[in-house]
Amino acid sequence: MELLVEAKTKIRSTITIPGDKSISHRSVIIGSIAEGLTEIENFLPGKDCMSTVRCMRQMGIEIEVISPTHLKVYGKGLHGLAEPQDVLDVGNSGTTIRLLTGVLAGQDFFCALNGDASIRKRPMKRVAVPLQQMGAQIWGREGGKFAPMAIQGGALQGIHYHTPVASAQLKSAVLLAGLYASGNTVVTEPAQSRDHTEKMLKGFGADIQCEGLKTSIRSSSLAGQKVFVPGDISSAAFFMVVAAVIPGARITVEKVGVSETRTGIIDVLKAMGAKVSLSNVLESSGEQMADITVEGTMLKGVEIGGELIPRLIDEIPVLAVAAAAAQGTTVIKDAAELKVKESNRLQAVATELRKFGVAIQETEDGLIIQGGQNYSSAVCESYHDHRIAMACALMGLISEGRTVVRDAECIDISFPGFAESLDLL
Ligand code: S3P
Repeated sequence: MELLVEAKTKIRSTITIPGDKSISHRSVIIGSIAEGLTEIENFLPGKDCMSTVRCMRQMGIEIEVISPTHLKVYGKGLHGLAEPQDVLDVGNSGTTIRLLTGVLAGQDFFCALNGDASIRKRPMKRVAVPLQQMGAQIWGREGGKFAPMAIQGGALQGIHYHTPVASAQLKSAVLLAGLYASGNTVVTEPAQSRDHTEKMLKGFGADIQCEGLKTSIRSSSLAGQKVFVPGDISSAAFFMVVAAVIPGARITVEKVGVSETRTGIIDVLKAMGAKVSLSNVLESSGEQMADITVEGTMLKGVEIGGELIPRLIDEIPVLAVAAAAAQGTTVIKDAAELKVKESNRLQAVATELRKFGVAIQETEDGLIIQGGQNYSSAVCESYHDHRIAMACALMGLISEGRTVVRDAECIDISFPGFAESLDLL
């Protein structure tokens, strides 16, 4: 599928975006190992979250789809999963493979996990190492580095693990395994990554404590809950940036999750000069939710790095578009993790934005962008990476002429309906 995009001006709009991808995954996984019914509303029916649903069904969990965004998960408790008859296919989903590896480490059965070509290139050893220390047997290609993975779980012991990278997927895998371990399992991170697993486990009744960068968990049973999934700030980000870069534009995105661990994009857009305000702030299933209004202006370049990076890790491709529109230089550093996402996002962003005429340089751990020029349309590749496809579409909105994004069907991974939402503007 190809996406065609043309320049837009004078935008004033209120939109809603689909549910949060991270929270949707967690609601299905945690709901499956809780006792009784978990009812999920505003679930993201994107391909990644549906991979999680498929995997949990393969392990004997009944999941009823009332509507695409309304699911009922009939949890069977910590020890209710059954050995799957076949390999679990996670598709393109890093969250599915890493979080499930944590759960499977605690199961008394054998299981194999695989995914698409992108998944088979993504680092898995970072997850295998702590789980092996806890007592699980885990194998993977090239000495455990890559999927396909095979796991023989069993009796685990708690450990104190210092994660080498601020990764919520890694932290979550160890915490989920901690539910099955004897004693205390403690994870300390180098910087705060998203904390949805901790919040949801607490809401489901787990014995879990968070203290700064340190989280401890003890084996505890979970009880099914009602979960309302807030809108995904990583999807809202595309519309926040559209509004920010067009002087006079104003967009409100409704009911967006605004956990402190995810709002780096708000801090950056404000630092670049955009007006960003939150209204209707409320709490839902332990998560903060708000309407975000962004008003555009001529942005200025900024430096983005350090502890901010995990708080906007998925927004760097779209922030590169904001940087291209901004006057002056934007430097993004400490973001080497982007090389091991669904694609090498540093390389993909640099290659594709250059096609529009953006002066952009790829560095060891980031990007340097000289913004503020006039750009012309391009024919872009998505690298089968949803966030690259959407970032290219946004570049098309601020460039003269008609932009084509090739292989744009990957957008359905996280944002079904993206093209229609763009049309609404
Ligand atoms: C996610 C965590 C992040 C993020 C990914 C989703 C999650 O990855 O990039 O899209 O749901 O926990 P890392 O935790 O590996 O940085």
